[in-house]
Formats: sequence, C-alpha cells, structure tokens
Amino acid sequence: MREFILYSRTGRTDSRFPNLREGGRLDVVYQSVLMSLFRSHAIRRNVTFHALLGGPPNPPLELIVEGEKLRDVRTDEKTWEDILRRVLSGREHPGITLRKNSLQHLVKEKTNIFVLEESGESINTIDLGSDPVFVLGDQVGLPKKDEDFVLRYGKKVSIGEKAYLASACICIINYILDRREG
Ligand SMILES: C[S@@+](CC[C@H](N)C(=O)[O-])C[C@H]1O[C@@H](n2cnc3c(N)ncnc32)[C@H](O)[C@@H]1O
Repeated sequence: MREFILYSRTGRTDSRFPNLREGGRLDVVYQSVLMSLFRSHAIRRNVTFHALLGGPPNPPLELIVEGEKLRDVRTDEKTWEDILRRVLSGREHPGITLRKNSLQHLVKEKTNIFVLEESGESINTIDLGSDPVFVLGDQVGLPKKDEDFVLRYGKKVSIGEKAYLASACICIINYILDRREG
C-alpha cells in the first residue's frame, strides 16, 4: 500500500464553488488525485489519497479516495469537478468518502510517515520500509506548526533541492516506488 496526504489549507468544504481553482485551489487537490491514483488506462488499486480541506465553511474535512474501491471515473478536470461537488454536497461516489477530521488526528492513525520537504533526507538513501505514508503541503507549503507536529511521528524526505508542484512530487514518488517494485 501507498498513501498520500495533501494538506490543503484553503480547499472549500462545501459544494458552492464556481470552478476548482476558485474553490480554494481544489485544482491542486484534483491534480494530486490524478497523480496518486492513475496510470495509463489503469487505476492504482494499492494507493489511498487523503486531502485535508481547511477552507470555508466547515473545516477541517478529510477527503479520502481509495484506489481499491474507486469506480466510474475519468481523468479530466470536469469529471473531478463534478465528483468533488457531489461528495462535498453529501452525495456518494464509489471509493470516495468525506469525514470530519484534522491532519493531527489522521497522522496519529498512521505509521511509517514521511514529510515531503526539499531539505529532507534524499529519497535515494532513506529507507521507506513497507506501506509508506507521504505528507505534502499545498501551493503554499505545509504550515510550520503542522510540519513540526507531523515530524513527531515521521521523517523529512526530499526528492531534490528544487521545489516541485505537490502533484509532480506524487508522480515522482509513484515512479520511484514502481521501479523499486520492478
Ligand atoms: C508547491 S510545493 C510548495 C512550495 C512552497 N513554496 C514551499 O516552500 O513549501 C508543495 C509541496 O510539495 C512538496 N515538495 C515540493 N518540492 C519538493 C522537493 N524537492 N522535495 C520534497 N518535497 C517537495 C512539499 O511537501 C511542498 O509543501
């Protein structure tokens, strides 16, 4: 199993948004879902993606997308805008759930946690063990107090000195783990 946790400080917590970008940067959540769960013509059944949504009007909410159960999806932005709107208005979609939860509570449920940070230990040398859980910041980054909290339970890992989009980091990690698994 692989898990990705995206901290989205502004992600809207109801369905009243004109589009993903103006929904508190839900476009970053969509791009991260895409890179977590999809290969070409295949869903990654061994991945679970979490987004902690901290925007108005009802934060914090945890959006969970489970590759094992995900059905009836395509990869385009319109499909995901419709899905996120449906789930955020209390309706259902297979493989996607929403619950009241905070980053702190979620992290306490997990083991083998890695915080993605440019200054962390190189992913080339760190031991990722089995079933790693990766925590990423949004378009701004992970707030310092949240990073400090998560680091009580995990370690910083870097994929290089340059800052990449959160979704690009997820893509790179999936690629590295795919190669290691052969
Ligand atoms: C768009 S970046 C945030 C950039 C923001 N200016 C910052 O300094 O945190 C989003 C997230 O991707 C992850 N990230 C970006 N580049 C990385 C790198 N080279 N190594 C590890 N994680 C990275 C971090 O978790 C970061 O919070």
